[in-house]
Amino acid sequence: MSDSEEERGKGERPWALILGASSGTGAAIANAVARKPGLDVFGVHRGRYVDNAALVERQVKEAGRRALLWQADASTPEAAEAGVQALREVAGPRSVKLFVHSIAGASVGRFLSEGEDRLHARRMRRTFDTMAHSFVYWAQALVAEDMLAPDARLLGLQNSLDETHLSNTALISASKAALEMYVRYLAMELGGKGHRVNLLKFGTVLTPALKHVYSPEALVRLEAAHARMNPAGRMCTVEEVANFVGVLTGDEAGWFNGATIDFTGGMTLRLLDLVLNP
Ligand SMILES: NC(=O)c1ccc[n+]([C@@H]2O[C@H](COP(=O)([O-])OP(=O)(O)OC[C@H]3O[C@@H](n4cnc5c(N)ncnc54)[C@H](OP(=O)(O)O)[C@@H]3O)[C@@H](O)[C@H]2O)c1
Repeated sequence: MSDSEEERGKGERPWALILGASSGTGAAIANAVARKPGLDVFGVHRGRYVDNAALVERQVKEAGRRALLWQADASTPEAAEAGVQALREVAGPRSVKLFVHSIAGASVGRFLSEGEDRLHARRMRRTFDTMAHSFVYWAQALVAEDMLAPDARLLGLQNSLDETHLSNTALISASKAALEMYVRYLAMELGGKGHRVNLLKFGTVLTPALKHVYSPEALVRLEAAHARMNPAGRMCTVEEVANFVGVLTGDEAGWFNGATIDFTGGMTLRLLDLVLNP
């Protein structure tokens, strides 16, 4: 694309702002929405997956869209303001059709542990900043800079831990509960302006976040367990989730608001059966 074409497109072409675009779910969403519905992508990440960030940039450009990967810790209000201003410079006002919060950065452990995995105050604050508060910081910055396109879609991501207990994940679950409430209240505040704010809940998909937490043997066990749990007899893929985000960006999904949209494929339906009738 020539510079003049790029200048002409400023403010007219719809963008996706994706926090956590260099890996896993965020990377897959960047690739999917660049193709359908065809959004330019501004992705934020801290630079731990440099090769994958470059791959995402290539994939988006191959789809004929612009890609800009921005490196920063997205968990602070200052980063949100700086990131949105950087985006405004390339995209122009009212250009963000889709905002997705796809950051994974939580401490795992136990509140009363005497060991290394104790969930102390600093870890609690850090997890909530990263997994929950930052959703609000970026929404506030987008509004302050007049960056939301008409009928914009803001999306948080949820897992199934709101339904069932999983050891060591107290902070993940608690911060996601806060995120769910932020989504509902922002839906109320933004609904009248024509925007939609939702939470997309999906089951386990294999991403680096999981590979970070589980050993290769545990991952094999995890996959087998999900094949037993999920009615479909297999794990969901990150591409399935990403393609569905494309659907949620479409006009037909415009009435979803303040919702927790269940895309888990029935992942927890069989839990009792598996325990009581093994
Ligand atoms: N994987 C699952 O099974 C699953 C299921 C349901 C919901 N989800 C949700 O989906 C989201 C993404 O998870 P994932 O599994 O795709 O994670 P992932 O593969 O680890 O990717 C996380 C992304 O966030 C970036 N990131 C982390 N902390 C950041 C920070 N402070 N500032 C800027 N970027 C940051 C990472 O890059 P850098 O580290 O370089 O910054 C990376 O691009 C999470 O909210 C998770 O709860 C995941």
